Amino acid sequence: MTDSDDMLRIAVLISGNGTNLQAMIDAIDDGRLHARIVEVISSRPDAYGLKRAAKAHIPTCSLNRDVYADAEVADEVLATELRHSGADYVAMAGYMRMLGPGVLGTFPDRIINLHPALLPSFKGAHAIADAFAAGVKVTGVTVHFANAEYDKGPIIAQRAVPVREDDTVDSLETRIHAVEHILYPEVLEHFAQGDVTIDEQRKVTVRNA
Ligand code: GAR
Repeated sequence: MTDSDDMLRIAVLISGNGTNLQAMIDAIDDGRLHARIVEVISSRPDAYGLKRAAKAHIPTCSLNRDVYADAEVADEVLATELRHSGADYVAMAGYMRMLGPGVLGTFPDRIINLHPALLPSFKGAHAIADAFAAGVKVTGVTVHFANAEYDKGPIIAQRAVPVREDDTVDSLETRIHAVEHILYPEVLEHFAQGDVTIDEQRKVTVRNA
């Protein structure tokens, strides 16, 4: 894939800082990820990730509380925006909202989520703190397909992060983020290369992983 028009087109959903969005932008810039980010959509107008996108000249869109007040409206607005973006795939990067049937139905097996724990352990919005509080010795990062069940879609890739004796939640979080910033662009590159397949049993295979 040499012509940028042939590249995988990704829309990225964020809610906050956007360090994983930045990791994708950096990976594209230095040739590790052969994809184009066609739009960044935020569930919060004040998300810092929107500034990162603007700096990289990526079109942005932010939805606000009013939109999310009605789940059906939010689903329809997001599905329409994503359809218009021309994205092949949707990558969630710290997007802290549920996806509705309109979005999921528009991109079947084409929505990817990043989660800061080894699913199926520690689902939800506080995965790092929950894993730390549980005293596990190993946690990690999961990339999976999003479906109607929160944090339960087919797993694409996982990487372990050991919990150290002297860790705090903050130090653990820093190491988990560092692993995310490597793993997520790597997984997206596998999508760009057509290496990812999902079978009838919903089991995912990644060639050349
Ligand atoms: C990341 O750690 C991501 O795994 C997590 O939010 C953070 C976003 O960071 N996502 C979830 O917890 C989803 N349940 P970022 O905005 O700096 O990329």
